[in-house]
Amino acid sequence: MLKDKKILLCVSGGVAVFKAAALTSKLSQAGATVKVMMTDSAQKFVTPLTFQTLSRQPVYVDTFDEKDPRGVAHIDLADWPDLILIAPATANMIGKLANGIADDMISTTLLATTAPVYVAPAMNVHMYEHPAVVKNLKTLASFGYQFIEPGEGYLACGYVGKGRLSEPQEIIRVLEDVISSESVKPLNGKQVLITAGPTQEKVDPVRYFTNHSSGKMGYAVAEAAAKLGADVTLISGPTSLEAPAGVNFINVVSAADMYEAVMERFPTSDVVIKAAAVADYKPKDTYAEKMKKQPGQWYVEMERTTDILATLGKNKQHQLLVGFAAESERVEGYARKKLAMKNLDMIVANDISEEGAGFQANTNIVTLYKRDETKVELPILSKTEVARQLMQEVVALLEGPRHE
Ligand code: PMT
Repeated sequence: MLKDKKILLCVSGGVAVFKAAALTSKLSQAGATVKVMMTDSAQKFVTPLTFQTLSRQPVYVDTFDEKDPRGVAHIDLADWPDLILIAPATANMIGKLANGIADDMISTTLLATTAPVYVAPAMNVHMYEHPAVVKNLKTLASFGYQFIEPGEGYLACGYVGKGRLSEPQEIIRVLEDVISSESVKPLNGKQVLITAGPTQEKVDPVRYFTNHSSGKMGYAVAEAAAKLGADVTLISGPTSLEAPAGVNFINVVSAADMYEAVMERFPTSDVVIKAAAVADYKPKDTYAEKMKKQPGQWYVEMERTTDILATLGKNKQHQLLVGFAAESERVEGYARKKLAMKNLDMIVANDISEEGAGFQANTNIVTLYKRDETKVELPILSKTEVARQLMQEVVALLEGPRHE
């Protein structure tokens, strides 16, 4: 899996630097090209020469040490890798990255990159639990950084707890999982229909009812499905997002528009994922002209919209159906009820009362409930990573007994 992959390993200063040396050796043996950047404090634990010897590549330690006049090292390095791994990631490095500080080779390069970044923290257990570090990790998650959690056990500082750099073999396993899920393209030939964003239910030419959905979750799912080789159609309510590349994009406004667009494509779809926040009610009457202000109250009578997902559930044949549930209380109970009532294969529940979950945020905290009563609880993750893991579950369901 790692053969010919270009990995930029960022080593910040903690006692776990020795594990980063072992990691460099294993990655190189697996066929990856590893370039290493080190902070000054990392060099106090292990010398650059160790990494240079293990990687057979130059090691970068100083932003201003420009060896090649044809380029700018930190920009070239930012553009070079397939992925970036920070291991060990100290509390200091995490803090700098979360706050956009660029005062060394690693933090400067990371500000300039668009490559996926994996962070493997290592520090004292109390540092790891400190609200500042917790907040900084959340900020990094909201930037789309992904994490390889530290292990629990005896720490070099004498404490026992969470904070040990994940073992090199475990880090390699995580990277291989990511690479394999993106290179194998298990959804080749599959038609995947995804809905995203809010709907707008018009009252008159200037007023409508809507909700807070930004579309970020559904667009991330569309992107993740396309990366796995699916032929993706994204039906979106009004958002300010750009349609992901390589996706058939259909803009709709109201729940009724979305219903029509979905129903038309349902028979030829293999998978439908409904991340949209569809209005449950719409104004019974709409007015052709702007309603004028009048003394006293204005009562707008509302009527139910059609439940698109429930309709799909009633009519489904070979299709795999995935719903979302935005709940603010009794999340599991309500989600499981929707799973059963709408005849779904899986439902993604997010507790919209939790910070970092639900509407608008770049992160989400979800639990996936499946028909067979199993569930997968995910920690706070970027919506990109939630979408990636959700699509892996979709692939597993498609390969399972009912769909193979
Ligand atoms: O867009 P973001 O800002 O990123 O926010 C993401 C999100 C919070 C919108 C998303 O994660 C989410 O939870 N989407 C579903 C929101 C919702 O409408 O949940 P619900 O519990 O009301 O509906 C359950 C399911 O039925 C949903 O899959 C919904 O698309 C579907 N539904 C609901 C009503 C309706 N008339 N037709 C439907 O198909």
